[in-house]
Amino acid sequence: MPFELQWAVEERVAGLEALLGRVCEACFQLEGVENAGMTVRIASAEEVRGLNRTMRGIDRETDVLSFPGAAFRPGRTAGMDPARVRRLYDPSLGWRNLGDCVISLSRAREQAREYGHSLARELGYLTAHSAFHLMGYDHETPKDRAAMRQMEERAMAMASLARTEEPPMTDQQLYDLACEAMHNSYAPYSGFKVGACLLSSDGRVFQGCNIENASYGATICAERSAVSRAMMEGARSFTAIAVVGSGAQAWPCGICRQVLNEFSDGMRVICGQYGQDFEVVPLAELLPHSFGPEHLGVQEDGHGK
Ligand code: THU
Repeated sequence: MPFELQWAVEERVAGLEALLGRVCEACFQLEGVENAGMTVRIASAEEVRGLNRTMRGIDRETDVLSFPGAAFRPGRTAGMDPARVRRLYDPSLGWRNLGDCVISLSRAREQAREYGHSLARELGYLTAHSAFHLMGYDHETPKDRAAMRQMEERAMAMASLARTEEPPMTDQQLYDLACEAMHNSYAPYSGFKVGACLLSSDGRVFQGCNIENASYGATICAERSAVSRAMMEGARSFTAIAVVGSGAQAWPCGICRQVLNEFSDGMRVICGQYGQDFEVVPLAELLPHSFGPEHLGVQEDGHGK
């Protein structure tokens, strides 16, 4: 794919690679540049601020920064200068690299909330915005701004026309993320390492591992450590969790089943032993006749009576 995604943050946004791939393709196609690509780096707010300071002398946070591989003459964009675009060919990538885009994940999340759309959509929009900057567009004058905006809108429409539904995270991908999380386990007492990965209803993933304690009862299971992480990022409902154990298939313990039930959006449990296949079972089957927030009059959005 003529596009390279770099993750400079721990969190992953499910299905983003495919979505951004479609957005980039749409942008380059609309401009009429062939065999072109760009890199998109999903970074922390601090990294983006640091780059803004060192590269542009502006010491403040921003949502997206663009570093074009070529400067097009004023008033001209990539599509009008194919010779210039051809010189951007990078043999190691196999395509013409128009430049780099760096996006602040936390700023994108804030903006998504503000505009009331998904994080994936906001990341898609910021990528399109950057792609057009890399191709020589800017928004200095109202006329230029309107032209750039029109291209962004056409690209977004093209990208979403092509899509059916946002591609969901596969069970295998979630399980792999749980395996990755397992390596952070702190389990010197039982030696039983557990990793977990939650998938939120809005497509975000949150990893967790078990954290043991010399006072054994103070131990936190991998599932609840993932829940803690998710809560702090504002996620409140989950469609799946993958859990992996180092020494045996790690079925969630009773306490974890109860905690997961609190935030379940038809949650499926993907469960296995490290290095082996996994099984998938609905949480409702692991915790039948459950007692949950609805019995105390608490609504889905977490509001009480
Ligand atoms: N453990 C989990 O992390 N999740 C479960 O649902 C079952 C148990 C951990 C806790 C402890 O560190 C180790 O496995 C052995 O009980």
